[in-house]
Amino acid sequence: MQQHPLASKVRGDFPILKREINDFPLAYLDNAATTQKPQCVIDSLLDFYSTHNSNVSRGVYTLAEEATEIYEEGRESIAKFIGATDYGNIIFTRGTTESINLVASAWAQHILKTGDQIIVTEMEHHSNLVPWQMAAQASGAELVYWPITPEAGSAGVGLLEFEKLEDLLTDSVKLLAVTAVSNVLGTVNHIAKIVEMAHKRGIPVLVDAAQAVARMPIDVTGWDCDFLAFSGHKVYGPTGIGVLYAKKERLDEMLPFQGGGGMIRQVGRQSSTWADSPQKFEAGTPPVAEVYGLAAALKYVSDVGIFEIQKHEKELTAHALNRFAEFTDLELYGPQDICDRTGVLSFNLRNVHPHDVAQVLDEGGIAVRAGHHCTQILHERLGVAASVRMSFGIYNEVSEIDHLFSTLDRARDIFLD
Ligand code: ALA
Repeated sequence: MQQHPLASKVRGDFPILKREINDFPLAYLDNAATTQKPQCVIDSLLDFYSTHNSNVSRGVYTLAEEATEIYEEGRESIAKFIGATDYGNIIFTRGTTESINLVASAWAQHILKTGDQIIVTEMEHHSNLVPWQMAAQASGAELVYWPITPEAGSAGVGLLEFEKLEDLLTDSVKLLAVTAVSNVLGTVNHIAKIVEMAHKRGIPVLVDAAQAVARMPIDVTGWDCDFLAFSGHKVYGPTGIGVLYAKKERLDEMLPFQGGGGMIRQVGRQSSTWADSPQKFEAGTPPVAEVYGLAAALKYVSDVGIFEIQKHEKELTAHALNRFAEFTDLELYGPQDICDRTGVLSFNLRNVHPHDVAQVLDEGGIAVRAGHHCTQILHERLGVAASVRMSFGIYNEVSEIDHLFSTLDRARDIFLD
């Protein structure tokens, strides 16, 4: 088995990787959907419930103070991880989807007026499309699509065309919402450049960092984005915890998202006043154990080194791109140039349904996702209903990629002979 130095170093930290599936060692290649958890994250959840469990910001007893400290220290470490200078700009949510819905509902819906526009790209996940459709429908605004490049030979497949953006950035646009990394094409978008162009026209930018957060450094200050959203479970942390970063001036423009305990200053019989941000957006008992788990995950990632992880992803991706080039019956979507992409690779085996391919791969112990990956607009644009997707994490080996390519022969044997 060909070992990758980073993967060999970290694999032992992930207990689930000891599993065998259908008599093969698990080859987990569905990291764009969710990542596996290192022992330190699992231990942190156990530690919280065994040692510190209590509600936060409510009690004056020792346990409550410990839980509050864990929760607020988590906010600080998350701010640091994404390059935010003030941890007051970090709001905890249930995940990327809730973070984007929060902005759509608490900010966009009351800012937007009839005739206004929101720019989205053709490569967005439904979680960065549908909330904007809902906000647009409620306010009379409309979505405008920034297209991806159509064919090899123009600017490369699956890239955003900057010449087209210039034309789209009109006075009617009130927000540009864009993913940092496509969950299907693996395209890495130039966020700093996009933000710079939008800000020249006074347009705020929301960045969906769901796929970027575990693959590359995030720098909200350097990028100067107005909002950024990600999920803990895609960066080796627990499910049920997400982050919304928002600039101070945007937080000041936002109305509360949900009403309840923890988000108020004073409650009257007919109306109430609100706590300061970020508590204003965190109604109810927050996910304290999950914040602790996410902080443990981000410490783990920082200890391994985000630049090391980025390099590892590039190496795996380069290997996969070389393997794809060997097969004429495999159609790979997205940029072919390693400089434009990262370790999320979607493809089809000609004349075989993606679900059939995924099922045969599972028989070989390989976990991949098959379907439209919550990107129906993008798949329509690609001219296919569905695709198979492999996506890498820090524990993946070149040998697992090779195992996938050899197992595809079995799909050819079953479905094409
Ligand atoms: N957003 C996740 C994916 O792309 C679930 O698979």
